[in-house]
Amino acid sequence: MSDPIRASNIPYPVEVESGKSYYWCSCGQSKSQPFCDGSHKGSEFSPVKFQATESKKVYFCGCKATASQPLCDGSHK
Ligand code: FES
Ligand code: FES
Repeated sequence: MSDPIRASNIPYPVEVESGKSYYWCSCGQSKSQPFCDGSHKGSEFSPVKFQATESKKVYFCGCKATASQPLCDGSHK
């Protein structure tokens, strides 16, 4: 398994909407971080679905090293 690209050194704050699904980029290659834009095609990576159960601000991992995908767990420090 190759390592993902470190898209950012900090998380991406996003106001998610209850009931909506979001697809987090796990490979780091997407041009529309923190979400998948299809750039992972041909690699072993695939996006990780995030289902919002309430409307609130969440922090999507930008470094791609989090152990609790797709959210930041502080591993970028
Ligand atoms: Fe990174 Fe799809 S572009 S997972
Ligand atoms: Fe990846 Fe925080 S941005 S763990």
